[in-house]
Amino acid sequence: MKAIVFAQTGGPEVLALAEVPRPDVRPGMVLVKAHAIGVNFADTRFRQGTYVAKPKLPDTPGMEAAGVVEAVGEGVTDLKVGARVAAFTVKSYAEYCQAPASMVIPLPDSVSFVEGAAFPIQVLTAYHMLHTADSTGPGRTVLVHSAAGGVGLAAVQLAKAAGARVFGTVSSDAKARLVREHGADAVINYATEKFADEVLRLTDGRGVDLVLDAVGKPTFEEGLRCLAPFGHLILYGRAGGPTDPLNVAALSPKSQKVSGFMVPTVTRNFPDKTRESAERCFALMREGKLRLHIGKTFPLAEAADAHRYLESRQSTGKLVLIP
Ligand SMILES: NC(=O)c1ccc[n+]([C@@H]2O[C@H](COP(=O)([O-])OP(=O)(O)OC[C@H]3O[C@@H](n4cnc5c(N)ncnc54)[C@H](OP(=O)(O)O)[C@@H]3O)[C@@H](O)[C@H]2O)c1
Repeated sequence: MKAIVFAQTGGPEVLALAEVPRPDVRPGMVLVKAHAIGVNFADTRFRQGTYVAKPKLPDTPGMEAAGVVEAVGEGVTDLKVGARVAAFTVKSYAEYCQAPASMVIPLPDSVSFVEGAAFPIQVLTAYHMLHTADSTGPGRTVLVHSAAGGVGLAAVQLAKAAGARVFGTVSSDAKARLVREHGADAVINYATEKFADEVLRLTDGRGVDLVLDAVGKPTFEEGLRCLAPFGHLILYGRAGGPTDPLNVAALSPKSQKVSGFMVPTVTRNFPDKTRESAERCFALMREGKLRLHIGKTFPLAEAADAHRYLESRQSTGKLVLIP
């Protein structure tokens, strides 16, 4: 089968199309023929060798795909050959990938493969930060950084659907328009404005209840400055670099909380929650409350261009590879 392979870590140019053996389906696993493959910011870090999981060279990036079940391993009873699915997986920049059955999500007919590939990592990260790591609902105010990105646009819409007041930050006016169209109550261009000042102005000095921060160094301390009493900041990435060490005592005066988040904590430890939360999000899609914005699709062979685009900060929503 065809797959994207890199033999050394580095820039997007290390990604090349190659012929590799198709994986054999193992017990408890499902083999999926990919129709669409999700690109995530973490894939760029994996390619560079700076992600928490390190590549075993030569390796293939990718953490999710949508397609059709080609084969099921021994012991898998709830998924049949031919089923349309999305999956949390590894090495997904390929024509076929393999996933544990508990990490495979059946796709409703109303959800396309491209939407399915946009779903597992970004939508469920947004969902579980808002509803598992926190309890977002009416009366709460949420600040979403990089709000025009894949996780960001999902988080804005899911927080609005839960009844919260939602602010987003972005680095361009074009992105600000897109985030407003997806329901944000206010959008701040943090390349030109001090976002914490603007958040404090919008909340009459109180601050927000929840900050979703995957930028890190450039936003973390200012995020704490505009966090309300008993507020919660979730640090779930570091696109702008790692934060300085935190003095936990500094959280005491306003009884604030900082936590980390990684979506595999949910998928590995609470398998029932994966499909249950996916079904809730599919229902929101049917109700028109969650729209998956596909920023751009690329042929699988052009994965390097997809990485260049994602790292350029120009992309919006989800980037998808088509094998
Ligand atoms: N913990 C988890 O389980 C989990 C799961 C999924 C994603 N994440 C993290 O969430 C973040 C968003 O992921 P995504 O896949 O949805 O990507 P994305 O938001 O679609 O794209 C990345 C965005 O990050 C922003 N950004 C800020 N500083 C940047 C910098 N120095 N270089 C590049 N981009 C920068 C840019 O938006 P602006 O220019 O508008 O700020 C850029 O468009 C990433 O940090 C990712 O690692 C974590």
